[in-house]
Amino acid sequence: MFRIVHKEKLSPGINLFEIEAPKIAGHANPGQFVVLRLHERGERIPLTIADNDPERGTITIVVQEVGKTTYELGTYKEGDIILDLLGPLGKPSHIDNFGTVVMVGGGVGVAEIYPVAKAMKEAGNHVISILGFRTKELVFWEDKLAEVSDEVIVTTNDGSYGMKGFTTHALAKLFEEGRKIDLVHAVGPVVMMKAVAELTRPYGIRTVASLNPIMVDGTGMCGACRVTVGGEIKFACVDGPEFDAHLIDWDELMKRLVYYRDLELMSFERWKRERGMV
Ligand SMILES: Cc1cc2nc3c(=O)[nH]c(=O)nc-3n(C[C@H](O)[C@H](O)[C@H](O)COP(=O)(O)OP(=O)(O)OC[C@H]3O[C@@H](n4cnc5c(N)ncnc54)[C@H](O)[C@@H]3O)c2cc1C
Ligand code: FES
Repeated sequence: MFRIVHKEKLSPGINLFEIEAPKIAGHANPGQFVVLRLHERGERIPLTIADNDPERGTITIVVQEVGKTTYELGTYKEGDIILDLLGPLGKPSHIDNFGTVVMVGGGVGVAEIYPVAKAMKEAGNHVISILGFRTKELVFWEDKLAEVSDEVIVTTNDGSYGMKGFTTHALAKLFEEGRKIDLVHAVGPVVMMKAVAELTRPYGIRTVASLNPIMVDGTGMCGACRVTVGGEIKFACVDGPEFDAHLIDWDELMKRLVYYRDLELMSFERWKRERGMV
């Protein structure tokens, strides 16, 4: 059982939870995730380890409310207990001195790029972080990313803060300015990661994306998380979740992610009804 020691609302619909989990905190590397189950009747969902503190024995997750389980987690408070937390899972990010690395985070993906950006910076890279949000009130962790980046560019789709447009507009601008970029690392909505991959492809810039397929066990036993990479089937939970973005079958991933849409909506509606929310 795992206790929430700190909870913070980072922006509407996005909560940070610092959770006591000494063993995971001691072994977590950038790019890895946990599988969480709230209670006896809960499902297992994967969430990235956005930060870890081996001394405090805690890990931090940042969760966007998108459906039943993530909304239910949003109702948890400091002191509450999470039943299961399994991790660290997945392959750690490949960290090296590449030169100039552009980290692209979209929405909750901004929290997910933090540990990788930090490690990239520590490895001696020049780190440019592009953080993308829909609008100003959703912006979070600009300061935290600034601590581990040489440059930070914030974009909002509506132009209410920072540069107007998508993360890809900011990335394209770097190319137009003739900046030398050695690696692009993208985490966020699949449409964003696909767009980043298409943008860097003609330049032949090595691009890595952290994939978010449906997962169940998260340990390689079922294949629910399978993705096609370079024509081969890979299990994102053990072979990834990071892959060469130019080799990923993005359309297949998008189709598989919406496979349970009706059941997800039904389960969320029932949960809300049980609490008198609708
Ligand atoms: C490796 C990995 C790391 C992730 N890290 C984060 C993170 O740090 N923060 C964050 O907010 N989200 C993260 N996600 C996504 C998160 O797991 C889903 O948002 C969550 O499972 C949705 O559950 P739900 O019941 O609230 O919503 P639902 O209504 O059940 O689902 C909404 C959508 O979420 C996706 N989803 C549903 N169930 C799962 C599942 N078991 N596994 C994966 N995706 C699912 C589907 O696309 C679905 O359409 C990550 C996913 C993966 C695979
Ligand atoms: S989630 Fe079952 S193999 Fe990856």
